[in-house]
Amino acid sequence: MAEASFDLVVIGAGPGGYVAAIRASQLGMKVAMVEKRTTLGGTCLNVGCIPSKALLQSSHLFEEVGHDLAVHGITVAAPTLDFAQMMKRKGEVVGATTKGVEFLFKKNKITTFQGAGRIDKAGAVSVLGADGAVKDTLAAKNILIASGSEVTPLPGVAIDEKKIVSSTGGLELTEVPKRLVVIGAGIIGLELGSVWRRLGSDVTVVEFLDRIAPGIDDEITKHFQRALAKQGLKFKLGSKVTKAETAASGVKLTVEPAKGGAAETLEADVVLVAIGRRPFVEGLGLDKAGVKLTQRGRIEVDAHFQTSVPGIYAIGDVIDGPMLAHKASEDGVACVETIAGQKGHVNWDLVPSVVYTQPEVAWVGKTEEQLKAAAVAYKIGKYPFTADPRSRANGTTEGFVKVLADKGTDKVLGVHIIGAEAGTMIAEACVAMEFSASAEDIGRICHAHPTVSEAIKEAALAAWDKPIHL
Ligand code: FAD
Ligand code: NAI
Repeated sequence: MAEASFDLVVIGAGPGGYVAAIRASQLGMKVAMVEKRTTLGGTCLNVGCIPSKALLQSSHLFEEVGHDLAVHGITVAAPTLDFAQMMKRKGEVVGATTKGVEFLFKKNKITTFQGAGRIDKAGAVSVLGADGAVKDTLAAKNILIASGSEVTPLPGVAIDEKKIVSSTGGLELTEVPKRLVVIGAGIIGLELGSVWRRLGSDVTVVEFLDRIAPGIDDEITKHFQRALAKQGLKFKLGSKVTKAETAASGVKLTVEPAKGGAAETLEADVVLVAIGRRPFVEGLGLDKAGVKLTQRGRIEVDAHFQTSVPGIYAIGDVIDGPMLAHKASEDGVACVETIAGQKGHVNWDLVPSVVYTQPEVAWVGKTEEQLKAAAVAYKIGKYPFTADPRSRANGTTEGFVKVLADKGTDKVLGVHIIGAEAGTMIAEACVAMEFSASAEDIGRICHAHPTVSEAIKEAALAAWDKPIHL
């Protein structure tokens, strides 16, 4: 049994924990990582962001070759799907990415302990093997919890990861299901629903609310829902699943109107449960260590990511804020910089979000609904991709850019994009807003022509005064 001492022991090697460990090492700390998976990278690299984006890309190409080339004068025979190869490639992308983190850990001299981390008290962490026995004990000047999140279960719909799957099983299906029912029209439901629809599944998405993708600006959501429906996703809004019965032939779901009423039955070969994620705190020994949780079950931290116990910190999905990989990483950097005596800070108000469907949806800052609720006087500038020459040349004219700016000061308060390259384009808005740009500032910045980013400039001009090309 090793008994070693470290400046920092990190529990959980997701994008929060592994980035924090690297930054801490760069700042001169002796760092240990405790991770219960056999690979590094957490949810994001192993069963989240990376495998889902690999399948989104493969399924997008499959659809594009099948449907979208004729207009360019390219005729190809109908594509056939080598499903095993597509899944193998996904595995290779994940493997290369998690190995990349291993390499970075070696480079930064971070010691990894494979096992479950349990905090015995401030300054002491035990590493438990799969049998629950203590393998190692670590002395730690500082402890950082980065244990992430897990899928929220739905009562009456037990996940078996075969016929009723979470996102993890939904990325590991052994064949394309004929009928897929997705419960929850959030980001996972729409991304994975799109993957399987493109590969040939008949996909129905059951959503409790009267809208898809809560949190996205209403106007964008309406356009988004229309685009996804046109592609063939079916939506059952204002509905809840109350029961699932599994048989050899598939799954029978009982669905009721959310507000109550007559039940109906939906049949599926596979059901994906994607109704949100909850913080993962099991087995960490938080009670014994005296680490407090918030009312919503997340670990309570102060502005410097310190928990209720001095010397124990927490970041990422397990604390408040958006459950996103890049947010977890920024938390991690700010937290260890503060531990090192620097002034780490994360602006959670300017964390961008992206839905990697086609069109993509990306946004940063406030929605119109949030500005109305806060009684902020605002103005809107919009620019459609149909008016953008590069989008026309690319054949990707679906969607628009929407810039929201303060009516009095012209400061940009929110940027919302639905379009083929929204996820890449949003970075410009993040930079501008971090520097408190006005719509006029963005409108006066020289953008390369022809690029789809000119649509942001034009939308900013529209918010400030007048667009040139509309
Ligand atoms: P995690 O990545 O969850 O890592 C936590 C790690 O801690 C895990 O490896 C876990 O095994 C380990 N752990 C937990 N408890 C212990 C313990 N006691 N001892 C040792 N180890 C422990 N976000 C994006 O920004 N972009 C995306 O495109 C995106 N796509 C996603 C797709 C899917 C299908 C899913 C499920 C999520 C996606 N997310 C995406 C969300 C993203 O994965 C999370 O926000 C991110 O992983 C959170 O990072 P984290 O470091 O806080 O935790
Ligand atoms: P989500 O919170 O995005 O969406 C869950 C949806 O399920 C909501 O629309 C909600 O109204 C609905 N819902 C809740 N209970 C329901 C019920 N009983 N019946 C029907 N619908 C119900 O959660 P999701 O999609 O599971 O994703 C979890 C998190 O993972 C996201 O919030 C995001 O933080 C992260 N993620 C990010 C991605 C990205 O950045 N591209 C991709 C995938 C996940």
